[in-house]
Amino acid sequence: MTVSKDLKKNVLILRAQIAHHNEMYHGQDSPEISDAEFDELLRKLKEIEAKYPELIEELSPSQTIGSGFTTFDPVTHRVPMTSLDNAMDTKELQAWGERLIKGLGNSAMRFVCELKIDGLALSIRYENGALVQAATRGDGKVGEDVTANILTIGVVPKKLVSKSGKKIPSVLEVRGEVYMSIAAFEKLRVAKQVENEKRISDGKKPETVPANPRNAGAGSLRQKNPAITATRDLSFWAYQLGEVVGAANFLSHSETFDYLRDLGFPINPEARTVNSLTQVVEYVAKREANRHNLDYEIDGVVVKLDDLAQREQLGFTARAPRWAIAVKFAPEERNTILKNISVSIGRTGRATPFAELEPVVLSGSTVSMATLHNREQVQLKDVRPGDTVVVRKAGDVIPEVVGPVLALRPKNSKPWKFPTTCVCDLNSTFVQLEGESDTRCVEPDCPFQRDQRIIHFASRGAMDIEGLGEKTVFALSDKNFVGDIGDLYSLTNEKLLQLDGFAELSATNLLTAINNSKTRPLNKLLVGLGIKNLGPAAAESLARRFGSLDAIIAAKSEQLSEIDGLGDVIANSITKWFKDKSHQAIIKKFRSAGVEFGNVIVSTAPQNLVGKAVVVTGAVEGFSREGAQEAITSRGGKSPGSVSAKTFALVVGDEPGASKLTKAESLKIPIIDSAGFLVLLETGELPN
Ligand code: IVH
Repeated sequence: MTVSKDLKKNVLILRAQIAHHNEMYHGQDSPEISDAEFDELLRKLKEIEAKYPELIEELSPSQTIGSGFTTFDPVTHRVPMTSLDNAMDTKELQAWGERLIKGLGNSAMRFVCELKIDGLALSIRYENGALVQAATRGDGKVGEDVTANILTIGVVPKKLVSKSGKKIPSVLEVRGEVYMSIAAFEKLRVAKQVENEKRISDGKKPETVPANPRNAGAGSLRQKNPAITATRDLSFWAYQLGEVVGAANFLSHSETFDYLRDLGFPINPEARTVNSLTQVVEYVAKREANRHNLDYEIDGVVVKLDDLAQREQLGFTARAPRWAIAVKFAPEERNTILKNISVSIGRTGRATPFAELEPVVLSGSTVSMATLHNREQVQLKDVRPGDTVVVRKAGDVIPEVVGPVLALRPKNSKPWKFPTTCVCDLNSTFVQLEGESDTRCVEPDCPFQRDQRIIHFASRGAMDIEGLGEKTVFALSDKNFVGDIGDLYSLTNEKLLQLDGFAELSATNLLTAINNSKTRPLNKLLVGLGIKNLGPAAAESLARRFGSLDAIIAAKSEQLSEIDGLGDVIANSITKWFKDKSHQAIIKKFRSAGVEFGNVIVSTAPQNLVGKAVVVTGAVEGFSREGAQEAITSRGGKSPGSVSAKTFALVVGDEPGASKLTKAESLKIPIIDSAGFLVLLETGELPN
């Protein structure tokens, strides 16, 4: 096959791109593209080279790894530090399995499955039991001397002592991953943000905050001043041996783990030995589903043949061992273009900036919008339309813009300015109330707020009107069929049929759903009104105590505030809501439509958790996730998603989230198990 000029040019461009990104990642700790995008470039190059082997050159990045960039003293690895080949899905993992069978025949295979820690590879050398050198991987042949920094990591043994009294080898190189835990990263990030807020108020430019634990770890490892590294709380997992002189011959990888453990090295407790590729697939699926229950980031699973004789038989390719493979998880972070920053208006008028993005696939779904939280966050992150930004969507969490890639910022770009007026065209100037981080549109007739109020009224936590989603609300509002939540009850078949996509059946279904909502319990109706600060738990207490909407309307603020857990702020907010003329008109519409005002469903649960916030993490025996939270809220308590100093207790089930646990421990919040949870539900008190 002849190779076209264009293809040759493409290969050159690909190689140049890969070399550049390698340098940014390994040399400068400032990657411009995500790992997934880097892998994709390398993959493309390898694909072309596989088809046209005549294009392969010794210096092609497909044949070498890492970058030769050094600012620390160079260290030549006595045993090269190779990289790993990747499998992006089960099919590629199976293909690896078939290659093993080809190389080993039908002999039995055992695999060690390990987590792929998202950190930096490190080789630590011990001579006669003393740590003499620590080096990064570099290009696999030559790394950087980071000994002084590694000496500051508490979990790395400085002197080898065998717990079982084994002889200490004359040379031992231990390879593993240096990483920053999520808790340590959060601490660093908060500290940097505080520093930046001060810089901004001093009129200085904010400094870049590391985007993720990996970048933060890399930056900490390459500090010229080890005293700074010492403050960064780095950790280490050992997973492989390099040069060894003067130790018994090992037969398996699992044996080397026992050996390393005996010498005091931290071995990741999640590693498992399995006997088939099917079990490997199960391990990968389980780990991917639970990846956020750890206090460190992982980006896949590394599968290694356990039998060292089999490894010997298979050997290495130019890049990586044939006996191991990295199974990558779906990426959660990617770079994309920030097309624009817009502001959305919530039902209370809160203005939330959000990023309109060039669509990217993250955690298996396409993301084209991501929240920017509030005015301060945009200012702190300094993201600008036209920027290349890092976008992250971890599991089910809402997508977030982590920050800009400054190296790729277009020239002449200017900081984005928060608009001064609402998009509602009612000339409403945004206001930021004292002590609030939110910016609001305070124009009560703002059509954006009105639509959001209707959407909220129909939502599951309120009147639960099936079929009345965002799209339908916008359509109804466009035609001026609804001006407030009261108008929903005067909608007719004739009106609905005028909406795009509505036919006889869908119109009848929606009308039935609206009609059914008239008998919802009073607490749901109260939630649906969208009274500021009135949440579901307080609404339930109100409904139970007053029994009807008319009694609540007639009540004085002082009477309302007497209810446990309500307080003055909510009480005032309620009386203010019912005083408003437009709200009185809504109540009138409800009344004439026959909406039930006194349908109180009394929960049988004792109200013993009022004023207490109980956080749940992991699967609590005998409860679904919602079930555990419901058990708390039905007793008058709150069940927020994160631990704070105000948390009453943390309930820990199976596979708990490590960050919640760490935070609870550091704040000395009581931690209870499922048995303790039952005691708490029954008595409202902590178990003894
Ligand atoms: S074994 C010859 N095990 O992944 C085997 N690597 O893509 C060399 N990594 O450079 C590596 N967790 O930085 C191995 N449990 C693990 C790992 C792991 C993370 C990293 C390591 C390596 C890269 C390869």
